[in-house]
Amino acid sequence: MSTQPGLPHDPLSVTLPLDKELVLKVIPMPADCNANGDIFGGWVMAQVDLAGSVIPARYAEGRMATVAVNEFIFKQPVRVGDILSFYSELTRIGRTSITVKVEVYAERFHSQGRYVKVTEASLTYVAIDDTGQPRPLPVASPPRPL
Ligand SMILES: CC(C)(COP(=O)(O)OP(=O)(O)OC[C@H]1O[C@@H](n2cnc3c(N)ncnc32)[C@H](O)[C@@H]1OP(=O)(O)O)[C@@H](O)C(=O)NCCC(=O)NCCS
Repeated sequence: MSTQPGLPHDPLSVTLPLDKELVLKVIPMPADCNANGDIFGGWVMAQVDLAGSVIPARYAEGRMATVAVNEFIFKQPVRVGDILSFYSELTRIGRTSITVKVEVYAERFHSQGRYVKVTEASLTYVAIDDTGQPRPLPVASPPRPL
């Protein structure tokens, strides 16, 4: 981890990953809060599930399902108005399944340009057929987005 150049030192501030793909950006709203006023963990998990599905969708080319959340770590709280950036990378391709790592970075409401890593997770998705059964992945090497 390193600090953002040109900004005051903040021990939690990190640089964004260059080796992962930005797959989602979203801003949580007051309706997404828990009783403490922070963002509800289940809301973050839903966003991570959506973000994590982006890369697997290129391989599955069709219906798929989340089969496992292998790891999920809430490192820092998420707050209303944070700009959340979801970065993802492929970590494993199997016969019918794809596993990705997702990292979530928050730009706090009053400190734009500084990023705090709030969440990281590993999820596995399975390509499924019309009856909901696993099917072999049709795409070995999908084109990368521009
Ligand atoms: C996804 C589903 C079709 C898989 O069926 P299954 O009988 O477990 O399938 P298999 O045992 O053949 O495994 C299929 C693939 O998933 C992987 N897998 C299964 N369980 C896993 C687990 N706990 N963790 C990681 N990968 C897993 C297998 O390794 C296999 O991958 P591979 O073919 O690339 O080697 C079935 O479990 C299902 O329908 N689950 C519900 C999915 C769902 O509704 N998700 C949304 C939650 S609300």
